[in-house]
Amino acid sequence: MEVVIVKDKAAQGELVAAAVARLVGEKPDALLGVATGSTPLPVYEALAALVAGGLDVSRLRVCQLDEYVGLPAGHPESYREVVRKEVVQRLGLPAGSFLGPDGGAGDIVAACAAYERVLAEAGGVDLQILGVGTDGHIGFNEPCSSLASRTRIKTLTEQTRVDNARFFGDDLSQVPQHVITQGIGTILEARHLVLLATGEGKAEAVAATVEGPLSALVPASALQLHPHATVVVDEAAASRL
Ligand code: GLP
Repeated sequence: MEVVIVKDKAAQGELVAAAVARLVGEKPDALLGVATGSTPLPVYEALAALVAGGLDVSRLRVCQLDEYVGLPAGHPESYREVVRKEVVQRLGLPAGSFLGPDGGAGDIVAACAAYERVLAEAGGVDLQILGVGTDGHIGFNEPCSSLASRTRIKTLTEQTRVDNARFFGDDLSQVPQHVITQGIGTILEARHLVLLATGEGKAEAVAATVEGPLSALVPASALQLHPHATVVVDEAAASRL
């Protein structure tokens, strides 16, 4: 695992956007796995600046990592809408270039299996951007998730719901209890994993990811199993390394 410590969020965004630009240069129709949450936003901003400067992303495809279950279609905090706004629209990608699980499906188990097929038929993820939860989760794989898990429904921990309540007007009752997430085994199939963290609040999770034992108690520690994993953190998030 490679660990890169950068000065701040802006430097982190530029570094990762440059990696995506290199990928697109080599493989114009690459499949980019995108994470939600606030951490990766500077990456999407830096990527949009590269696009404005002439980077051709007309054939780039993007796919979601996870999704809330049961939010009404078009809910602004559904990850489909967040990715549409923060990535697809910002980069000017065609609407059809965007893959994600159906969090509103009547049969969630079938929707999870369908998303696994969609990812496989798309040729797999070339570069997966990941954030990390304060409890070490990746995607929505909460602690104790199987390291071999596939896309499935999960119940959020109280901690993650509290962490994400800020996106729902600080009203915990509005944060869904259930989610669909790519499994850890699914995530590990991406050809390159790039995990981002900023701020003191992530320092413990970063230390456990990078230096702790491989453990289902810290889902992000599964990156230790991957042949091409890069962790990009600012100084505060690196402070316990
Ligand atoms: C959510 C997402 C994760 C993300 C995490 C951290 O739980 N499902 O993919 O990594 O939030 O979010 P933030 O970057 O806002 O701290």
